[in-house]
Amino acid sequence: MKMKRIGFIGLGLMGKPMAFNLIKKGYELGVYNRTHEKTKDFQGKAEIFKKPSEVAKNRDVVITMVRDHRAVEEVIFGEEGCIYGASEGTTFIDMSTISPEASKDIAERLKKKGFHFLDAPVSGSTWAAESGTLAIMVGGEREIFEKQKDILQTLGSKVVYMGESGMGSLMKLVNNLVGACWTVSLAEALVLAKKGGLNLESVLEVLSAGAYKSPLVEIKGGKMAKGDFSTQFSLDLMYKDLLYISDALEKYGVFSPVTSVVKEIFKSSFEKGMGNLDYSSIFETIEKMSNR
Ligand SMILES: NC(=O)c1ccc[n+]([C@@H]2O[C@H](COP(=O)([O-])OP(=O)(O)OC[C@H]3O[C@@H](n4cnc5c(N)ncnc54)[C@H](OP(=O)(O)O)[C@@H]3O)[C@@H](O)[C@H]2O)c1
Repeated sequence: MKMKRIGFIGLGLMGKPMAFNLIKKGYELGVYNRTHEKTKDFQGKAEIFKKPSEVAKNRDVVITMVRDHRAVEEVIFGEEGCIYGASEGTTFIDMSTISPEASKDIAERLKKKGFHFLDAPVSGSTWAAESGTLAIMVGGEREIFEKQKDILQTLGSKVVYMGESGMGSLMKLVNNLVGACWTVSLAEALVLAKKGGLNLESVLEVLSAGAYKSPLVEIKGGKMAKGDFSTQFSLDLMYKDLLYISDALEKYGVFSPVTSVVKEIFKSSFEKGMGNLDYSSIFETIEKMSNR
């Protein structure tokens, strides 16, 4: 069977390993990244393009994995956007974290031009992107989802259809609400443990064996204990997600005192210039505020 031709846009921390997994599986890939030098590792492995309109030419599917809704808007509808190269019937799969409203709007505008669209954001950080074990939540027409399942199953070990356009993005906000709030409570717990004289390695050993064991405790807790804030998922991106989450909570009228405080803690860390660090660096903010 002929493998699908895929255009892949956005070779950041997540996009790069995802694109490599598709190549390994045998898909024919064309790649584009705004900062062109990030395409250099793809030489000889994929076709490399300098414009989104070019990478979308003669592709069955175009995947976007970029920062936010503005970036998706730019690469799809911008001056040199994909819509100026893609053929009718192409399916766009946006795997970035954006708002449900933006996903719905993009789906409608693409449909009017004869294209298909799925919002398919992901959970699991760089390690899951590398191992092809992301959790992927999908919104859009079910028939289109079924047609593109092979691609999604290459990138993730759990692929769940959530409903109409925008539902994948809404699910992602639900997911990251949990992640952001847990991170702050984990940081508070570890600062308490540290100040109280507990050994953090032993603390994590217990937490990772009991009722609250999770990749967040193991991986982000491990980074907090070591003070290693090298970036897997930047604080800047989690703060961006919290802004989308706040809008959604407001839209649906959800009483959300915890998320409000968590957003303020992320905001103050971001304003202190910590945006490029991993979001586990929230530990440092809590520790500094506790030592004042
Ligand atoms: N990292 C994680 O653990 C994780 C997990 C789940 C979901 N996500 C989500 O996945 C998406 C990508 O995250 P990431 O960690 O890979 O981020 P990243 O490393 O910062 O990469 C962001 C990508 O977006 C591109 N970009 C930003 N603004 C753009 C614009 N205006 N036009 C065109 N391209 C633009 C960047 O291009 P340049 O190289 O030119 O800057 C880069 O390729 C985000 O929506 C994030 O919230 C991340």
